[in-house]
Amino acid sequence: GEGMLWGGRFSGGPADAMFALSKSTQFDWRLAHYDIAGSRAHANALQRAGLLTGQEHSDMLAGLDELDRRVRTGEFGPAPTDEDVHGALERGLMDVVGAELGGRLRAGRSRNDQIATLVRAYLRDEIRVVAEELLGVIDALRSQADKHLGVPMPGRTHMQHAQPILLSHELLAHAWPLVRDIDRLRDLDKRLAVSPYGSSALAGTSLGLDPEAVAADLGFSSSVSNSIDGTAARDQVAEAAYVLAQIGVDLSRLSEDVITWCTVEFGFATLADAWSTGSSIMPQKKNPDVAELARGKSGRLIGNLAGLLATLKGLPLAYDRDLQEDKEPIFDSLDQLRVLLPAMAGMVGTLTFHPDRTSELAPRGFSLATDVADWLVRQRVPFAQAHEIAGAAVRYCEGKGIDLPDLTPADLPHIAPELGEGVLQVLTVEGAIASRSARGGTAAVAVRAQLEELSGEMDSA
Ligand code: ARG
Repeated sequence: GEGMLWGGRFSGGPADAMFALSKSTQFDWRLAHYDIAGSRAHANALQRAGLLTGQEHSDMLAGLDELDRRVRTGEFGPAPTDEDVHGALERGLMDVVGAELGGRLRAGRSRNDQIATLVRAYLRDEIRVVAEELLGVIDALRSQADKHLGVPMPGRTHMQHAQPILLSHELLAHAWPLVRDIDRLRDLDKRLAVSPYGSSALAGTSLGLDPEAVAADLGFSSSVSNSIDGTAARDQVAEAAYVLAQIGVDLSRLSEDVITWCTVEFGFATLADAWSTGSSIMPQKKNPDVAELARGKSGRLIGNLAGLLATLKGLPLAYDRDLQEDKEPIFDSLDQLRVLLPAMAGMVGTLTFHPDRTSELAPRGFSLATDVADWLVRQRVPFAQAHEIAGAAVRYCEGKGIDLPDLTPADLPHIAPELGEGVLQVLTVEGAIASRSARGGTAAVAVRAQLEELSGEMDSA
């Protein structure tokens, strides 16, 4: 029937439920533009192999242009009787150039090599956009870090106060994983840039077509080395699903921090009106919905990866129809990030931080205890003993209901004889932060170097 590519050996059409199960136009139509691009390259290959005359070739290309126009304007779309994007577009081409010429295009190719090529071409374009939008989030973090250079905050491990850090240092700690995600996307492009066209159903083509020429025509860097692998491999799709899930996980961690910072208890930051939502009943509410949706969607992105890997596990070579199930999860992951990333950039870029509050809390929770120990080490006390003495200072303060910066010279002899008055000089947030000036550390000089390094990365990204 129309829009079906395989009627010959069958005495009748498929059962309704068979067709309903098989049909994929509701999700693969988004590949239509890539299918037409593939058809142009394939028409060129047929012509070079002498299977299309010069006239047929130019009529075919003109027909494909017209079909592309009809698809773009919505004049042509999948009909309920079309099984998939390939069948629908063959029907559309025949509408334009007639059944005779339209029927020549399928020679030497199979939907198996077509779909594998289309998905790779589509993913190459899409991940480029994801990388650009990720840069927007990185830039929002970078400019907030730049703006707040010098503002201290409590650094936490296990959610407990650990050591004072600069707010900019923390913000940049959320930026670097996203830089690595962009690097992952770029690296993945190398594996996506290999064209399966010419693999045909699995064994390759007998019609004298040149897969390398088709690959070059389509902007791929080469064609596949093995036609069976070319049609059956979806590891590149799974890898894309992984990187997208990793982006989700990285954004989820950032979101968790933003949510925490914006609580009354922390009071480190306030969300901009445009990037938060209210409550239908509680008039005072300003909810961190962007961050919560990021956290929630990361679960969905992980699910898409896990589902795809489960689909691929245990499939025999070569093409199996199970492979059609790769599309909805990867499309969904892309769609989710495409709406999420601009909102994340907006939310992060418009956060108002409260330096008084973060500074006030930076030395609390005995977060300068390590500095006491480090000071003792500089006085040649072995670190194990220094750790004990600093711990005793914390215990002493706890008993008195004070914190380490509140110690006076009179307190010191009650703790340990090794504690000279000099230690009181390092018991400041500023001193503790400034002392960690080695590469990667929290001192302003190191964070400024980091900012420059990040800007360099962004320029080359
Ligand atoms: N729709 C299929 C897919 O997405 C491609 C068509 C191959 N179908 C087939 N019966 N060989 O993988």
